[in-house]
Amino acid sequence: MDLIEELEKLEPGLATGLAVAETDEELETLRIEFLGRKGRLANIMSRLVSLSPEERPKVGQIANRVKERCQKLFATRKAELDALKERDELARFDPSMPGRDFWEGTLHPVTLITEEICDIFIRLGYNIASGPEVEIDRFNFEALNIPPDHPARDMHDTLYISDTVLLRTHTSPVQARTMLAKQPPLAVIAPGKVYRRDSDLTHTPMFHQIEGLRVGANITMGDLRGTLLYMAREVFGRKTKIRFRPSYFPFTEPSAEADISCAVCQGAGELGGETCRVCKGTGWVEILGCGMVDPAVYEAAGYPPDSTGFAFGLGVERIAMLKYGINDLRLFFENDIRFLKQFGRLI
Ligand code: PHE
Repeated sequence: MDLIEELEKLEPGLATGLAVAETDEELETLRIEFLGRKGRLANIMSRLVSLSPEERPKVGQIANRVKERCQKLFATRKAELDALKERDELARFDPSMPGRDFWEGTLHPVTLITEEICDIFIRLGYNIASGPEVEIDRFNFEALNIPPDHPARDMHDTLYISDTVLLRTHTSPVQARTMLAKQPPLAVIAPGKVYRRDSDLTHTPMFHQIEGLRVGANITMGDLRGTLLYMAREVFGRKTKIRFRPSYFPFTEPSAEADISCAVCQGAGELGGETCRVCKGTGWVEILGCGMVDPAVYEAAGYPPDSTGFAFGLGVERIAMLKYGINDLRLFFENDIRFLKQFGRLI
């Protein structure tokens, strides 16, 4: 009768195992060991054939009962473990715990400066204008008094798409487009991306400019200077000074480059006894190109030759570097979240 003995050992053996089983995997391992297709019970059953025809049904019955009781043991232990798990989870749930913060983005410094400067000009009565980044030669150059063989084209390092189609090298073509579409008086501010075949520490093939154009009656260089001084003080603070240095652009005459007193050393040229690295000790930093609109530009636009007005174009990254004290242009384009999230305003 060793089969019956073996059968009777199954249940206590299983009970011992279940008492220390704590996970579903451990339960499953035991199930396979005891009740699985090749488990201990199955093994005993397979040996029933060796019994006499009288003994077989008796032992078979015992085996069935053992099987049922083993299944019950499993069910009980499983229910016990589930209840424990639930209690554990409840104990871990703390309704007073603060929720997780959402990751909120911040605006890119280029966006912040663009918006800030456009807002200043909107307060002055300017309208926002825009033009395509894929531009035609006519608006990028010719209408701006830069004919095909003009040496000024060399300054632009143009990325050409075809002989006549290119990536705009500045936002000035928006001037030409605006004048074709509107009659004076007008005042527009045009932010956007521009492209040049240029890439080193201080140049990227794509950067941002903001173009300003105002045409009307009796507009003078004094108006230009006053407008730019107002903008500079809004962006860099009330004490900011501005100076013009004579320059050349084919589409303005006279032309100037405008400097502001260095925002980092307040125009002193030094900082804590050391030469200011931003203005290189001069106390001034260049921020834009500007001038009175050249009569040739009015002519290309079909404006009366005695029109008066000014235009300017500034580099957004440059303003952002000065305003925020950023010393590496590449930071703007790497999209390193640790850099970007330092710039205040949430979206
Ligand atoms: N378009 C010029 C540049 O990119 C800047 C400029 C704009 C100068 C308008 C004068 C007037 O360098």
